[in-house]
Amino acid sequence: RTSEQPYRTGFHFQPTKNWMNDPNGLMYYKGYYHLFYQWNPYGAVWGTITWGHAVSTDMLQWHILDVALAPDQWYDINGCWTGSATFVAANRPVLIYTGWTNISSSVEHKIQVQAVAVPHDSEDPLLQKWIKVNDNPILVAPIGIDPTEFRDPTTAWIGADGKWRMVVGSKRKEDGVALLYRSSDFLHWHKAEDPLHSVVDTGMWECPDFYPVSIGGQNGLDTSVNGPDVIHVLKASLANDKHDYYVVGTYNSDYDTFTPADSSHNVGIGLRYDYGKFYASKTFYDSAKGRRILFGWVNESSSAKNDIVKGWSSLQGFPRKIWLNGETKSSILQWPIQEIETLRRRSDSLSGIFLEANSVTRVTGVEGAQLDVEVEFDMPSLNEAEILEVDSSNVQLACSQVGKSHKGAVGPFGLLVLASEDLKEQTAVFFYAVLTGGGWKTLICSDQGRSSLNNDVDKTSYGSYMSVPSNDKSLRLRTLVDHSIVETFAQGGEICITSRVYPVKAVNNQAHLYLFNNGVQY
Ligand code: FRU
Repeated sequence: RTSEQPYRTGFHFQPTKNWMNDPNGLMYYKGYYHLFYQWNPYGAVWGTITWGHAVSTDMLQWHILDVALAPDQWYDINGCWTGSATFVAANRPVLIYTGWTNISSSVEHKIQVQAVAVPHDSEDPLLQKWIKVNDNPILVAPIGIDPTEFRDPTTAWIGADGKWRMVVGSKRKEDGVALLYRSSDFLHWHKAEDPLHSVVDTGMWECPDFYPVSIGGQNGLDTSVNGPDVIHVLKASLANDKHDYYVVGTYNSDYDTFTPADSSHNVGIGLRYDYGKFYASKTFYDSAKGRRILFGWVNESSSAKNDIVKGWSSLQGFPRKIWLNGETKSSILQWPIQEIETLRRRSDSLSGIFLEANSVTRVTGVEGAQLDVEVEFDMPSLNEAEILEVDSSNVQLACSQVGKSHKGAVGPFGLLVLASEDLKEQTAVFFYAVLTGGGWKTLICSDQGRSSLNNDVDKTSYGSYMSVPSNDKSLRLRTLVDHSIVETFAQGGEICITSRVYPVKAVNNQAHLYLFNNGVQY
């Protein structure tokens, strides 16, 4: 990092400059991973959106290509918005995206339609040039749907009758909805009478994603796979609260019905991919390694003014492999793709460290603003855990009230990353075990409260509750640090928390790692 650009990252994708948002059209094709992304070529704030395009052989190092889709047709003249890739045959990837167009010559009335693009030359493994088909737009909003809330088509899949299906995000009154469409030729699409799913009062569903996962393993499945060993995940990005919610359920491809596996879960209630900053995410099936991978947009916590000064805004989260949690069968696990291990320049392993009550221990020899830390804490004795009733819908508030500096019984204990030598700057990732009416639980928090001496950044804390089965012997954290992003995967990927931080002292080799324990009972 240069002193002018201390917040640019190394192993997280970002364009060379300007604004980025959602990941789009992810696919693996002829030896390359393709990442398209919502990109404004004209500035560091959202604006006239194109599809930026980057390719990689390992999802670590990306090569940026020319813009793949730009607003140059009447039906996408205001922007080429989010969409997905589908293989209609092994060598025929197709993109469906949202065009933002004008209803009339008055630019005040802008609406959303769906459009298709195909490769100019499918022999080109880089898929550099895309052709928008003559049939565009292939879909306009149906009767009863607000044409300003009709966007973000999913990857399509084949149902029991051999026809294609896809979902478009929308809302009906205040109910979020996944509109279902069917097609035999990928160009003519017909809306199914019933949506695939809908949840009252969840507002606009952006960027829906719908995909199968294996019931019995970590292997990924191509999007059309279904059967007795398969269960599905439906995810929507809630425009109202800017978080990605998912639910695991059974998809019946004869009737195109989707039924949540756990009736207490639903889109918009409870299950989140990530409890920090992570939005508009999308998965794809990696046919090279037989896994399903999740990308998500991680925006800035700094002001737009700061973004304009630094000339860029947003990162993509580090790609995560995802699979069904075999314990619950109604939630998923997420883990950084294994390729990250090839970036480790050195690997240190320490064990048998005793964290005394009220202590902070420097992990010596581990300096730097890029780390991949895995830590395992022996299960603390819970006899003295404090009683704390936290409304599970507001754990974020509890995390900021408790804070890292709180002195509890069983914790807070955990890591300080991007910490300056004097500890004036530190980002704390910690566990804090408490007794609740429903038994004991642990809060897992990422506390940005002291992450920077600069006060012009958002330092909100994030967190979640985590139930830990009694046969678990330890509490586990894995935290990736890359200059201005801290991504935490707790308990093997059950709970993830991504945050953005902007230290002014704890940069490069001035960034240190500590272990701490503020609890008195550990
Ligand atoms: C989500 C989103 C999408 C839309 C795109 C526009 O962040 O609002 O719904 O297609 O961004 O850039």
